[in-house]
Amino acid sequence: MRIVLHIWRQRNANEQGRMVRYELPNVSQHMSFLEMLDVLNEDLIAKGEDPVAFDHDCREGICGMCGCMVNGIAHGPLPGTTLCQLHMRHFKDGDELYLEPWRAKAFPVVKDLVVDRSAFDRLIAAGGFISASTGSAPDGNAILVPKEIADHSMDAAACIGCGACVAMCPNASASLFMGAKVAHLGLLPQGQPERYRRVKAMVAQAKAEIFGSCTNIGECEAVCPKEIRLEVIARMNGDFLKASFVQPGAGDGEE
Ligand code: SF4
Ligand code: FES
Repeated sequence: MRIVLHIWRQRNANEQGRMVRYELPNVSQHMSFLEMLDVLNEDLIAKGEDPVAFDHDCREGICGMCGCMVNGIAHGPLPGTTLCQLHMRHFKDGDELYLEPWRAKAFPVVKDLVVDRSAFDRLIAAGGFISASTGSAPDGNAILVPKEIADHSMDAAACIGCGACVAMCPNASASLFMGAKVAHLGLLPQGQPERYRRVKAMVAQAKAEIFGSCTNIGECEAVCPKEIRLEVIARMNGDFLKASFVQPGAGDGEE
C-alpha cells in the first residue's frame, strides 16, 4: 500500500525543525511501524540523505524506548500499543501520517523524532527506588502480600517509562509515570520505609524538571501503552497529602 509520511526533521536541539514529506509506494501491511521507517531510512541512505532518527530497542513493547506522535496521538491510533508493536495493517492505502517527537519542555528534542527523556531518570533517582536489600530471589511466600495488593502493584509496575503520558498531556504532566512508581513500590511491604519521602522527593523533582501539574484530563491514561490507570495518580496525591502529616522519620527519610 501507499503511505505518505510527513516527518518532523530537526538536526539538533538548537536548530529549528520542519515537516518533510516522504512517499512510500510499497508498504507491506505486515510491516511494523518501525520497519516502515527502516525501509524509508534505507532509501534515504541509498540516496545519500540523512536517515530519520528515531528511538527504539526491544521492538517488543517492553523497553519503553520507542514512541512518537502519529497524527497527534502518542504511539498512534491503536490503544494499549507501543509504536513498535503497531502494524501497518491498521492503516489504509493512501493514508497521510504526520510524525512528530514528544512535545514537552522537560523532553527537549535531540534530533528528528528523538527526545531527551533523562528527566524521567532523575525522577527515579529522586524517589523511585527501595532501600531494602534485594539480594537473590526470595523464597515464595516469605513476605506475605495479599493477592489483590500484589496484582495492583504488578499492574503499576508495567509502566515502561516511554513518556507518552507526558507527551499527550496538555500540561506535560509526569503524574501518571510518577503515580505508577509510587503505587508499584508503595503498595508492597518493601516500599514502606521510603513511602512518604518518595512521593515528596518525586513531586519536588517533577517541579524542578518543569513537568506540569495534573488536572485530571485523562489523556495520559488514554494513550498509555501499558494501560496504567488514573487511580495511581489518586494514590500519589493521597500519599503526598499524608506525607505532610507523618512524623519526621516515619517513612520520610528524615531523622
Ligand atoms: S505511565 Fe504509561 S505512558 Fe506513561 S511512561 Fe509509563 S507506560 Fe509510558
Ligand atoms: S522499542 Fe521497546 S517498547 Fe518499543
